[in-house]
Amino acid sequence: MKNTVVVGAQFGDEGKAKITDLLAQNADFITRFQGGSNAGHTVVVNNKKYAFHLIPSGILYENKICMIGAGCVIKPDDFKKEIEDIVAKGVEKSHFEKYLKVSPLAHVTMKYHTDIDGYSESSLKENKIGTTKKGIGPTYTDKYARSGIRVEDLFNKDILSKKLDVILPKKNRELEFVYNLKPYTKEQIMAECEEYREIFEPYVDFDWQENLLKFKQQGSILFEGAQGVMLDVDYGTYPYVTSSNPIAGGAGVGASMGPVTIDRAIGVFKAYMTRVGEGAFITELSDEEGEKLRTIGGEFGVTTGRPRRCGWFDAVSAKYSVLVGGLTEVALTKLDVLDSFNEIKVAIAYKNKITGETVKKYPTNVYTHGDYEPVWEVHKGWNTDITKCKTYDELPLEAKNYLKRLEELLGIRITIISVGPDREQTIFVD
Ligand code: GDP
Ligand code: IMO
Ligand code: MG
Repeated sequence: MKNTVVVGAQFGDEGKAKITDLLAQNADFITRFQGGSNAGHTVVVNNKKYAFHLIPSGILYENKICMIGAGCVIKPDDFKKEIEDIVAKGVEKSHFEKYLKVSPLAHVTMKYHTDIDGYSESSLKENKIGTTKKGIGPTYTDKYARSGIRVEDLFNKDILSKKLDVILPKKNRELEFVYNLKPYTKEQIMAECEEYREIFEPYVDFDWQENLLKFKQQGSILFEGAQGVMLDVDYGTYPYVTSSNPIAGGAGVGASMGPVTIDRAIGVFKAYMTRVGEGAFITELSDEEGEKLRTIGGEFGVTTGRPRRCGWFDAVSAKYSVLVGGLTEVALTKLDVLDSFNEIKVAIAYKNKITGETVKKYPTNVYTHGDYEPVWEVHKGWNTDITKCKTYDELPLEAKNYLKRLEELLGIRITIISVGPDREQTIFVD
């Protein structure tokens, strides 16, 4: 298999984990490159459901190294719980110790990061981002302010102590005077870090340079995306975004591989669209059709349990995702969710409600999105159960027409079609 990056191409939750798990069969090394436990990734194997947040979705195989890369941020108690939850489902703890690796360069989400995330969200009131409250924004803020704690710091008490002498007084002033939150003593943070060191110890890959070189030279690498292009901090619906780069370009940086290592960038799109959290969503449906998509699609967040907002496929933003996400092909998921709709809509342009102007170019300033309404193209539904289709030819004509039209609108090929959550419910298009 060529080196491949799997990228969420909408607002996250597109079914990336299912696609990653499938492609992981033919990979030697699977790596997350950004984000943290804000991600909720579901893999279904033989009707058994696994939820991943930080751990790459390829972990269920034998003999594949799964890495949480340098570009990720890790909340240690979430990491610990995730392993415990999967062990409770029957995977041996020794399996993780053998195959799961953590980059020493990844940043650690401290308790004060989650304190700040929670406070910021509640103080923003109606302007809140709707974050997962996993401390993502505050951890990345400290990373870029050069005040973060990396996994490797936990393993050297002297260095950690010196770093804290610089970081903590500043952080405490921020906690007290900006957020009106409780400060931490150095002893508290040292004790917290000791707890985290123990959590990470079996997994930290201090030999990562040799290992990366080995996989780069002779292995097949799969980069697992989290979140989605429209949540990208540079290209998404800013400020209603996450604090990292889910686009394909983020993979070279966050997994320390460089841009030319990647041969394919698979953009995962749902056959419709969902979003959790706040922010514009031009094709959102607030009627019974939206409710029907939510019910049939089981659209509730894996990480927070929040109901996902639902709407029809937005080809304007999708085309933009192909461009800025650096996508080379499409995996289209949850096509089966549309099985019982008589009509399926796609937004092919936006109409400005004030000027009457129709635009096909994605407007990047979200504060203007309230001015737009979708220009719909209506497709005939297929009203057939497609969950058992194994080949493209078996799909009903109306489904094929829908797929052809999406390809035409996006300008790249749909190479994978998903017709159910299970590994088996997948059509690979030649
Ligand atoms: P991710 O964050 O992109 O990995 O996606 P999530 O796991 O958050 O959400 C996708 C949901 O859709 C999960 O419950 C999957 O099991 C489910 N899923 C994935 N592909 C399909 C599909 O083709 N059909 C149906 N019905 N469900 C799917
Ligand atoms: P996966 O990998 C869907 C959203 C949050 C919020 C915004 C910022 O499962 O697709 P954050 O906690 O990152 O600061 O929240 O981003 N968000 C996701 N939405 N799927 C995800 O991950 C998400 N990760 C973050 O809901 O709107
Ligand atoms: Mg998800």
